[in-house]
Amino acid sequence: MTIVHSLQALRKALSGAPAHHPSVAFVPTMGALHHGHISLVAASRQLSPTVVVSIFVNPTQFNDPADFARYPKSLEQDIDMLEAAGTHLLFLPEVATLYPQGTQHLPAYPLGRLEELLEGVHRPGHFQGVCQVVHRLLEAVQPGQLLLGAKDYQQCMVIRQLLQHTTLPTQLHIVPTMREADGLAMSSRNRRLSADGRRQAASIYRTLRWFDSQWPHQPPAVLEAEASRQLLAAGFDSVDYISISHAHTLEPLLQADANEPAVVLAAAFLEGVRLIDNLPLGQQPA
Ligand code: PAF
Repeated sequence: MTIVHSLQALRKALSGAPAHHPSVAFVPTMGALHHGHISLVAASRQLSPTVVVSIFVNPTQFNDPADFARYPKSLEQDIDMLEAAGTHLLFLPEVATLYPQGTQHLPAYPLGRLEELLEGVHRPGHFQGVCQVVHRLLEAVQPGQLLLGAKDYQQCMVIRQLLQHTTLPTQLHIVPTMREADGLAMSSRNRRLSADGRRQAASIYRTLRWFDSQWPHQPPAVLEAEASRQLLAAGFDSVDYISISHAHTLEPLLQADANEPAVVLAAAFLEGVRLIDNLPLGQQPA
């Protein structure tokens, strides 16, 4: 695996591949890698002969500076995992490499309602930051394929919108969420939980499964209130949202209707760690 830090070295390492050619697949990450990230590398290898991964903890997408400061880092282990997974090129930029003019006063992306719903409400500015960095990374790597994890459901929708807005000819692939044996969605943040917290965290997925088993037999508001109660009873400190939303727009569904494509999305704090997860409804094996 080749490791590059500068844009020049990145372009040189990719000089054999024409811009936006399907032969280059790209997985952007913030490091602290787990098997979910490795599943994105594995899926990339099925698509393209050249797999590029970036590790960059993007300061502009953290609305909470303490969260940025605490974001887990494990670069040596990450490098070993990426090498073992068959990554060809690892891009490790500095802040000044991606933001040569600094991180203030950056242009805004038109994200419409996506910024006003769910994560958009609870993490103001977060998706602008995601677009700022992903746009820069896509311009640098110029991949034909971009792979993202389904755990970040709303982020996938935001980046789809970014691709449309910028008319970048990169194809987006969304890879299913990888889960631990007890159902907890793999996340870099999980490693900040204590052993007890780690056990309690699995209740977020149990609650989503319960929600799925009830849909569409009860009104959304009743299910949301009960799901929130379940998470608090399981030891979560607070619930930002647990919401049944239209699967294509994320607008809240106000009535139970089996004909609408629906997804339940949750964000909740446990031991000060913010966990998110989601489950498309009506698609699980009984
Ligand atoms: O999902 C993430 O890890 C980040 O939001 C991303 C897409 C790498 C942008 O910093």
